[in-house]
Amino acid sequence: MSVVKPFRIFNGKVNNKSTRIFGGEASGICDWDDLKYPALLQINKEMFSEYWIEDEIRLGEDIKDYRQKLTDKERYIFNTVTGYLTQLDSIANRFNFLLGYLTTDPSVAGCIQLIASFEGLHNRSYQYLTSTMLNDSEKRQAFNAPKEIKTLMKRNQIIIDKIQTFVDYVEDVLIGKAVEDEEKFFKLLYEALFAYIILEGLYFSGGFVYFHSLARDNKMIGSNNMINLIKKDETQHNVFYGLVMQILMLENPQLNTQENYDYAVNFIKTCVEAEKEWARELFTDIETLSIKEYENYIEYLANVICRNAGLSDLYTDNKDIKSRWILNYGEKNGEHRATKADFFQTNVINYSHEGGEGFDL
Ligand SMILES: [Fe+2]
Ligand SMILES: [Fe+2]
Repeated sequence: MSVVKPFRIFNGKVNNKSTRIFGGEASGICDWDDLKYPALLQINKEMFSEYWIEDEIRLGEDIKDYRQKLTDKERYIFNTVTGYLTQLDSIANRFNFLLGYLTTDPSVAGCIQLIASFEGLHNRSYQYLTSTMLNDSEKRQAFNAPKEIKTLMKRNQIIIDKIQTFVDYVEDVLIGKAVEDEEKFFKLLYEALFAYIILEGLYFSGGFVYFHSLARDNKMIGSNNMINLIKKDETQHNVFYGLVMQILMLENPQLNTQENYDYAVNFIKTCVEAEKEWARELFTDIETLSIKEYENYIEYLANVICRNAGLSDLYTDNKDIKSRWILNYGEKNGEHRATKADFFQTNVINYSHEGGEGFDL
């Protein structure tokens, strides 16, 4: 059976419940009461309940702050971070479409479709931020940063290569240029998913902290509010893809090797070092954030990725967040999205909420 061409509109001869999330069989009928992994229904509901749009955020004060309160360097970092977050969300948006095509579990597909739409919303949000505050040359600087700054390019290329290799392999099989090989498919999928988890959980989340640091200094509060809405989404994506990774290993025990464990550990360490190198270049000559604080936070995020993906903590000095202000300024506060809150108070459907732990696999 083909693992690369699994998507069928309908197959009445097999069960609605999928046999595997990748390379399995399912009828195509999405029955949320008949899932192989019922936890996915809850995740799907929780993601849906977070829907928002960028127009909910007011940036009037930020327009003044950007010109009057930020230093030249702070403005440069604001532009650069916004530029690379845009790049990462653009990759996420497209890569999710491929994963959504490849999965053979309709509930996984349902979650991935939502994630892809959120990534598209995030892209629009950066556009909203930049078109509200930046002039033409600043905007060019922001959006060209991922194509021009060598340290940033090096850091991003580590994950892009893994994802692109997988995409190319799938394409080669689809056009008949490569012979399908299930072992190769799962190896490349495993590596691409791991790279994607780094993109979501390390490179994104690290970038958000700059906005929190400005907010701590009473600058760019609206921008930080928007970032916190995005961050909440990304946290859900991390939980979902951590679960996907665990299911992948469960369903394909051949992936559960010491070699792959070592691969994952080395890959995280390589990405953490690349992130630190980039941070040392970017976050200089500013008062709001120190390199040491950032490095501790990156190590903490790497530990969270390890936990979500079923690995042991790699950075034992940073099991918890050391800079508590990141929590204070890095959580959505609800105030800025009163309209949405009101909507949910009057909605007859009252979704229950649970934490991301304790999946019933
Ligand atoms: Fe995103
Ligand atoms: Fe995401």
